[in-house]
Amino acid sequence: MPEKTSKLSGFYKLSLEERLKIVSEFAELTDEEKDAISKQGLSLSQADLMIENVIGTMQIPLGVAANFLINGKDYIVPMALEEPSVVAAASNIAKLARIKGGFKAETTEPVMIGQIQLTGLSDVVEAKEKILARKKELLELANAQDPMLIKFGGGARDLEIREVETPSEKMLVVHLLVDCRDAMGANAVNTMAETLAPVIEKETGGKVYLRIISNLAVHRLARATAVFDKDAMGGADVVKGVVKAYEFSAADQFRATTYNKGIMNGIDAVVIATGNDFRATEAGAHSYASYGRKYTTLTKWRENEDGDLEGSIELPMAVGLVGGATKVHPTARACVKILGVKSASELAGIIVSVGMAQNLGALKALATEGIQRGHMGLHARNVAVMAGATGDMIDKVVKVMVSEKKVRVDRAKEILEGLEGNSQ
Ligand code: MEV
Repeated sequence: MPEKTSKLSGFYKLSLEERLKIVSEFAELTDEEKDAISKQGLSLSQADLMIENVIGTMQIPLGVAANFLINGKDYIVPMALEEPSVVAAASNIAKLARIKGGFKAETTEPVMIGQIQLTGLSDVVEAKEKILARKKELLELANAQDPMLIKFGGGARDLEIREVETPSEKMLVVHLLVDCRDAMGANAVNTMAETLAPVIEKETGGKVYLRIISNLAVHRLARATAVFDKDAMGGADVVKGVVKAYEFSAADQFRATTYNKGIMNGIDAVVIATGNDFRATEAGAHSYASYGRKYTTLTKWRENEDGDLEGSIELPMAVGLVGGATKVHPTARACVKILGVKSASELAGIIVSVGMAQNLGALKALATEGIQRGHMGLHARNVAVMAGATGDMIDKVVKVMVSEKKVRVDRAKEILEGLEGNSQ
C-alpha cells in the first residue's frame, strides 16, 4: 500500500465526485459517512434535538485543504465556510511549508478555568485564606461530579483566587482549573463550579452570583511554527514584504484586528467542520490578543539567518472530540474521521497550523499583488450564477468579467445575453 499523503496536486481541477472519492479513500470513509458529507448530513429530527424552535437546517460549503504536514503526519483538513479563496490559500501555503518539513505543533495540557464570583465579603483576605485552607476538599468535591473525566485522566487540578475591584466592592473570584482532556469542557467545568459555590458561600459568609467557564483559556494554549523557503515564497522581496506587513499589523490595532480575522478564517472553518464552538474559540482568540499587552497579532513572522521566512502562532484552543455537536452531527463526525485525530490536543495543533497558513496566504497576497485578483475569480463565479448563467456559460461569463475587471451582476447579465444571442 502506498504511503498516505495529503499532497493532492491538481485536486481543485477534479469533479466534486472525484474529490470526494479521494478523500474517502484517504480517510476510509463508509458510504454512510460519505453521504453525511455530500448529502444532507443533519436530519431535521436531529436538528430539532440540538436547539430550540427548529424550522430547518442551514447549509454552508464544506471543502478540504490539502498538503498539510504537521509533526510529520499528513492531514487532509475539512473546512466549512462561505468565503472564497480561504481553502485554496490554506492548501497553497501548506504546500510551501512541506519544503522545510511542514508545521510543528504543540499544546499545553487541556486545562480550562471555571470562575466563581464571590461577593458581600467583610474581609476578603480572611475569606481567601478560608477557601484555600479547604482547597483539597473542594477539588475532591469537584472531581466527584465527573467520574468519566477522572477515568480518562482529567479532573480539577487547582484552585486560584483573584481579587477583582469593582465600583461597588472588592470581590473574590475563584478560578477552578480543570483538565478537560478530550472534552471542550464547558459542561464539566460549569457543573463543578455550581457544586462548589454553596460550599464556598457557607465557608466565607459571602454570596456567589456567577459560576461559569472562562473562554480566555490561557492554560489551554496551542502553538505552531513553520519555516518557508525564500525561493518558494517568491524571493527575498516577498519575505521582506510579509515581515513588513506583520510589523505594521503587530503595531496597529486597526490592522491587527483584520489580520487576526484572517487567521480566524482558517481556524473557524475547521472548528465549525468538526462541530466545535466557534464563538468560544473566537472570543478566546481576540481576548488573548490583548492578554497582558496591547491588542496585537496572534502570529509572529521574521526572516531567519538563511533568509527564509519563519512564523509562529499561539492562542487558546478549547476544542473537543467528545460531546456536543462533534458527536451528534453526522457531518462533523465524518470530518473528524477525515482528520484522523486521536485527541483534542492533536486537533488543536492542526487548527492553529491552519490559522497560521491562512494568515501567511493573506499576507503574501497583500504584500504583493493584493487580494482582489485571487478573490475575483470565485466571486465572479457567484456573480455569474446570480445573473442566471448555468453550465459552461458560467466560465465564459467569468472570463469576460475578470478581463474587464467589472464583476457586477448587471454586467454579467449583459455578457450572458450577448453570449446566448451569439449561440442561437
Ligand atoms: C479577509 O477575509 C482576510 C484578510 O483581510 C486578512 C488580512 O487582511 O490579513 C485578507
